[in-house]
Amino acid sequence: MKFGHFDDARKEYVINTPKTPYPWINYLGNQGFFSLISNTAGGYSFYMDARLRRITRYRYNNVPLDMGGRYFYINDNGTVWNPGWSPVKTELDAYECRHGMGYTIITGKKNDLKAEVTFFVPQNYDGEVQQVVLTNEGSAPKEFSIFSMAEWCLWDAQDDCTNFQRNFSTGRVEILGSTIYHVTEYRDRRNHYAFYTVNDTIDGYDTDRDAFLGSIYNGWDNPETVKAGKASNSFADGWSPIASHYKKVTLAPGETKTLIYILGYAENPQDKKFASSKPEGLLTRETWVLNREKADAMIEKYNTPEKVAAGLEELRTAWEKLLSIFKVDTPDDKVNRMVNIWNQYQCMVTFNLSRSASYFESGIGRGMGFRDSNQDVLGFVHQIPERARERIIDIASTQMPDGGCYHQYQPLTKKGNSDIGGDFSDDPLWMILSVAAYIKETGDWTILDEMVPYDNDESLAKPMLDHLKVSFYHIVDNLGPHGLPLAMRADWNDCINLSCFSDTPGESFQTYTNPKFKAEGGYSKIAESVFVATLFTYTGPAYVGILEHLGKTEEAAKAQAEIDKMKKVVMESAFDGEWFLRAYDANGEKMGSHECEEGKIFIEPQGFAVMSEIGKDVGADIKTLNSIDKYLNCEFGLVLNNPAFTKYYIQYGEISTYPGGYKENAGIFTHNNAWIICAEAYAGRGEKAFEYYSKIAPAFTEETSDIHKTEPYVYGQMIGGKDAKNFGQGKNSWLTGTAAWNMVAISQYILGVKPEFDGLRVDPSIPAAWDGFKATRQFRGDTYEITIKNPDHVNKGVKSLTVDGQAIDGCIVPVAGDGKTHQVEVVLG
Ligand code: BGC
Ligand code: NOJ
Repeated sequence: MKFGHFDDARKEYVINTPKTPYPWINYLGNQGFFSLISNTAGGYSFYMDARLRRITRYRYNNVPLDMGGRYFYINDNGTVWNPGWSPVKTELDAYECRHGMGYTIITGKKNDLKAEVTFFVPQNYDGEVQQVVLTNEGSAPKEFSIFSMAEWCLWDAQDDCTNFQRNFSTGRVEILGSTIYHVTEYRDRRNHYAFYTVNDTIDGYDTDRDAFLGSIYNGWDNPETVKAGKASNSFADGWSPIASHYKKVTLAPGETKTLIYILGYAENPQDKKFASSKPEGLLTRETWVLNREKADAMIEKYNTPEKVAAGLEELRTAWEKLLSIFKVDTPDDKVNRMVNIWNQYQCMVTFNLSRSASYFESGIGRGMGFRDSNQDVLGFVHQIPERARERIIDIASTQMPDGGCYHQYQPLTKKGNSDIGGDFSDDPLWMILSVAAYIKETGDWTILDEMVPYDNDESLAKPMLDHLKVSFYHIVDNLGPHGLPLAMRADWNDCINLSCFSDTPGESFQTYTNPKFKAEGGYSKIAESVFVATLFTYTGPAYVGILEHLGKTEEAAKAQAEIDKMKKVVMESAFDGEWFLRAYDANGEKMGSHECEEGKIFIEPQGFAVMSEIGKDVGADIKTLNSIDKYLNCEFGLVLNNPAFTKYYIQYGEISTYPGGYKENAGIFTHNNAWIICAEAYAGRGEKAFEYYSKIAPAFTEETSDIHKTEPYVYGQMIGGKDAKNFGQGKNSWLTGTAAWNMVAISQYILGVKPEFDGLRVDPSIPAAWDGFKATRQFRGDTYEITIKNPDHVNKGVKSLTVDGQAIDGCIVPVAGDGKTHQVEVVLG
């Protein structure tokens, strides 16, 4: 069952009922100011950091689920309704929500009055513009009132939802004309304020939540002021400050009125915080005067429909440009829609937000993840490489001199987060991958010379290349009894906690240090991760390639020897006969072996082992891929492990706490499904690669949205696995490494257009039924128009490759470097 449809021409998903199986959201904003917006206009805004600089309040895990945000209410002769249906939930005569690239348009119609609201954050602008177009579609004049509403968060979202004894008394607002200012703590310790304005006169306002609602017993679905058709002109003093504009509107038949609201954020330099004279008409209880210059300029910037149209056009053009860097035309519409639009869009969002703020991530729990953000670069780097470079440097700056890493950092301070600390065994390796991806995309080797601090300490700065070296050797220098990398607190799988042995509620599986390992430095020196071993053999060659390019042949050979040694160790001590083991636990026992009672096979190490060609000479790759198909494959994707754990294994940690079929315990983790898709494509098995891809790619799940539940235009982290009661149900949509990795899987492995240090590899691995496909790739200043022909209907194999008619050996298109468009023709066979 579907709840809307794709409008590919406009790059939108069109939702045709407010009652989607879960709030289907979109993200507005790209750099500083961000908003989350659901199909009923729920959500919130923040500046840079969803925890430290929250602008509007939102209550997670609320009942009903998606309540709060910015709402418009209309009172049309006693009928109160919202363009997005919620919160009043008056049945609408028509409803539509269009989520597009950085904007959302929600249209509601009731009793011949149409309200179309366009929400977007313009380019280089710290505010959300909300354009409301009201049209009387009837034959009689209409007189009605419209109320806006936004509830302020008192800046620190964590404090805001816990520290009530203080926060119920700190709220401060001011009103000047049609603008309501939020100035809590501005006088004292903050230099930022927020505002909500409308480009017209108003007939009243409310800034006190209880006054707006009329009673502490009312909710957003039942505000007395709206019902009464009149604002109460309340002035908030403490409690919960809000911003609501009240406006009376009269429309002749066929007439339209446009109102432009802006929810903005501004920061003043410390010495320019205050203005010298009070503006006339200012409603305030303060004796100091806010310097409003920034807000004035922001308001001026979008105060007419023409300016708004231009702002929207600018946003559209920016996205057209971003999405023209890589475009494909394959025989499958769903693939085209994922590759050309939605997967790339999601890659930008995950790059921007890491795992911080979604409808499953509260915005207060996590900052930017070391592992996560490095992986996000893989799917995003071709879009804005300069931002990828800046991000890589930010992440690397939090690394420790020995190659260990803070697991997370806060985007506002860019400092490592010591609450979580380090010792996640896989973290350093992802940085080798992201730096290599950056160089492969751009050919910009200078990143390696950039001086990058350790532990945010400039005095410890070393060239970026040094960070790669310590990353590589952090693995080599921390091996366990078999010569495999130590598992430490966790690896990619945050829930395999082999040093935790937790038996007390509340202990964090990721950060708790069991006293029995305290003396050893916090984690077992026995537990080893086969996954990290295979990630090492997969990423290591990129480090070697970099060294070779720099002419550091000796160092390259030394690193290569470590990789070769690791491959040997894996084959000798971690190949289980039909697949690779997952780990050795702290007792030295095998995890992920046919000998185990449960959790006999895990997905994570397999893909990287296959792509590292470990044991390929004895057929380990195909055996492994076949085992995955046999044990992990099911209707909706590949489960993470099988059989699911049915009891608590104290030696494994969090993984065994999840009911079977969910999350890391045999859920379908779409993130590492991508690794298998890559591996199948790598091994030349295009049918399998495509089968797995089409099981999880959102556009393919659209038809079963009632089962899948989450947005059909973006990946979620997880789909309920075959052991789950809710088999096939998606969760944790939007902020997941799945976005980047499936972008890599489809574009670089299946479609096979893959940047390399010395050119653009074109080596597809596709369904045999395809006659071929076309792709356009802008690469290092040139444009490559690629035509793939598949006359023999094979899966893989480049029979010939020509560039502008000239035959090339192999399948790497050399960089032309002339800024021109080049024709690449590839014949498979
Ligand atoms: C989740 C993981 C997540 C981790 C982060 C766990 O509870 O299952 O998916 O990575 O928390 O803290
Ligand atoms: C989500 C986390 O963000 C990611 O870092 C981790 O690798 C996966 N969960 C698996 O545990």
